[in-house]
Amino acid sequence: MKFGNIYHENCIDTLQRLPDDTIDMTITSPPYDDLRVYNGYHFPVAEIAQALFAKTKPGGVVLWVVGDRTVNGDETLTSFKHAFAFREAGFNVHDTMIYAKNNPIPSDCGKRYRQCFEYMFCFSKGQPKTFNPLTEPTKSAGQKIKAFRITEVGRGNLPDEDIGREIKTQRKVGNIFYYNVGTSSSRDRIAFEHPAIFPEQLCEDQIRTWTNEGDLVYDCFMGSGTTAKTAHLLDREWLGSEISAEYVALAERRVAIYQGELKVSSFK
Ligand SMILES: C[S@@+](CC[C@H](N)C(=O)[O-])C[C@H]1O[C@@H](n2cnc3c(N)ncnc32)[C@H](O)[C@@H]1O
Repeated sequence: MKFGNIYHENCIDTLQRLPDDTIDMTITSPPYDDLRVYNGYHFPVAEIAQALFAKTKPGGVVLWVVGDRTVNGDETLTSFKHAFAFREAGFNVHDTMIYAKNNPIPSDCGKRYRQCFEYMFCFSKGQPKTFNPLTEPTKSAGQKIKAFRITEVGRGNLPDEDIGREIKTQRKVGNIFYYNVGTSSSRDRIAFEHPAIFPEQLCEDQIRTWTNEGDLVYDCFMGSGTTAKTAHLLDREWLGSEISAEYVALAERRVAIYQGELKVSSFK
């Protein structure tokens, strides 16, 4: 098997050929709900979760972007079913993050608020081995910690060693991430030949967080190639599966823009 390659096949077949404990991170958005039978192919989430567990390195993660549809007034809860399938396969549900859409596609949602988010589950095989958190400036940067804090049970004292310590200038960002969708979510016009791309910035933020340079990033549903392009630009190895020949060709064209030619290296 080659890195830097999109295999035109069901991801189950790609995963079967991969050695165990190979992938540092999978980042993907699966087909779900009305796409469950996709181009005639059944979508077996439990089988995929089990295969990903076997092929993920200890400490590796799966970043699974998924939402729910409302059918006959009832939410499908597909996202939760997927989360339980991954836990059943052996993963920890390490973090349930939200991908919030700055500009959700307008729709008539009846007696509901506008649907404007999807879940980004981080499933981990044990404790994540890599965590490079995104940070933001703190509001009280530079101020000194006071001798008390307000807790749930009232005013509590702080340990002596904390009093007077300077408040850090940066803190980890929260686990709700805001991104533009639609034409401002990618700089590549050809990406929009695919109907369901995820934002490049989402992909970049998550790959930076959970991997280091040289790590292997896999996308089992490669679509337009967002993961391949981003991993390449961040100097990660990458690998993908895509069941549609049309989308394989699209993703290869998109990645080629940034590579000149597809970079290929082999498993030892
Ligand atoms: C939601 S799209 C992924 C889009 C991608 N994240 C992007 O940014 O372009 C899901 C893709 O999975 C592919 N697919 C569906 N079932 C598959 C399977 N069993 N194995 C591999 N690819 C599959 C579909 O053809 C579709 O392109």
